[in-house]
Amino acid sequence: MTVDEMRRELQRRLNKNRFAHSIGVANTAVKLAKKFGVDEDKAYIAGLLHDCAREFEDNDLPAQAIKRGIKFGEVEKNSPLLLHAYIGAQMVTEIYGVDDKEIIQAIYRHTVGARNMTALDKIIYFADMIEPHRNYPGVDKLRELAETSDNLDEIILTALSESIIFVVQKNALVHPATIDARNYLLLGIKS
Ligand SMILES: [Fe+2]
Ligand SMILES: [Fe+2]
Repeated sequence: MTVDEMRRELQRRLNKNRFAHSIGVANTAVKLAKKFGVDEDKAYIAGLLHDCAREFEDNDLPAQAIKRGIKFGEVEKNSPLLLHAYIGAQMVTEIYGVDDKEIIQAIYRHTVGARNMTALDKIIYFADMIEPHRNYPGVDKLRELAETSDNLDEIILTALSESIIFVVQKNALVHPATIDARNYLLLGIKS
């Protein structure tokens, strides 16, 4: 599939707001990719398709994951929305013909992060948080950081900390991968 075809297919499958969010993430990811020397085409495709599994209703996600043989734990059982990242990482190949491992991994990791994230993983994770349609307290601070900081690890560390605080304030479960991602970065920065 060409990128144009991917965009058309995604637009057909997602509702208007989710499609607009996807375009926002793709464009933001390209900007960050330029700044941090990451492959811009991969950033665009990963950003565009990161939420492709949101074509399913939230309550259909567990069944879709089971159907695809995706194993998941207690945190995902409690917050099934998290599953869209893992399902999406398979759907990019199934529906959109993407076989690039870096793109697939960035989509897989975009909601909760992971230890040892690549620059592309970090860019997609962060672009998802700050694309222009996002509107939550603190988003402007993160957008500003994207402009002022030349250190992708510093940016992503702030983003991970903000998401952990947000989840804790909601009294929701924190995914261990997010803690891992943050610890891994902190240890790297401190050593
Ligand atoms: Fe997502
Ligand atoms: Fe998203």
